Amino acid sequence: MRDSSIGGAAEVFQGACMSERAKMPEIAIEARGLRKVYAAAPRSPEKVALKGIDLKIPTGSIFGLLGPNGAGKSTFINILAGLVNKTEGEVLIWEKNIDTHSREARAALGVVPQEINMDPFFTPMETLELMAGFYGVPKSERRSDEILDALGLGDKKQAYVRQLSGGMKRRLMVAKAMVHAPPILIPTSRRRALMSSCGGRCGNTCGG
Ligand SMILES: Nc1ncnc2c1ncn2[C@@H]1O[C@H](COP(=O)(O)OP(=O)(O)O)[C@@H](O)[C@H]1O
Ligand SMILES: [Mg+2]
Repeated sequence: MRDSSIGGAAEVFQGACMSERAKMPEIAIEARGLRKVYAAAPRSPEKVALKGIDLKIPTGSIFGLLGPNGAGKSTFINILAGLVNKTEGEVLIWEKNIDTHSREARAALGVVPQEINMDPFFTPMETLELMAGFYGVPKSERRSDEILDALGLGDKKQAYVRQLSGGMKRRLMVAKAMVHAPPILIPTSRRRALMSSCGGRCGNTCGG
């Protein structure tokens, strides 16, 4: 049941990308010689987190970034999301360079954060509308209703977020990452719950 809800989300997601299909790039994310060195601090030495990554993630693929704690997974995703500055190298997201076209590059990503961070006194509908506003999505192009339905939260649209179960909150986090119809979705949770509720399909890009 939960899986089919998320499958529905994938359809909404793909539907949103339909008009873009003709001009979809072959490579969704590309990193070239990506290095990150965290500077030394009084209590910690310099740390090389990424040693020079070369990576191409094709459009339409599901790509898993696996590795032990401290391998650099979060650092990589945070660089993509514009939260960490890289030290060296180049990154292209949906063919946009994060240095020269950071806004467009970020707009192509929907990142589901590791931790649940929502106002418990907002409703799911208000949560999505607020997020859509942050992204500057015009009212006429908003798809909050459709996204909530697709994620199996159709009957919770006007409930308080605090009344949702843990799994529903996690699905709402996925919904939040989709309001601007990004062609690339990155669920970053370490929790098995999110991974199983997404069934891997949340990580799909709109090439299907
Ligand atoms: N803000 C930071 N300052 C200094 N070192 C950091 C910082 N963030 C992460 N690191 C270090 O970078 C390495 C990679 O961390 P991280 O990207 O969080 O790995 P992962 O997500 O794969 O567990 C670790 O050694 C970690 O301690
Ligand atoms: Mg991490």
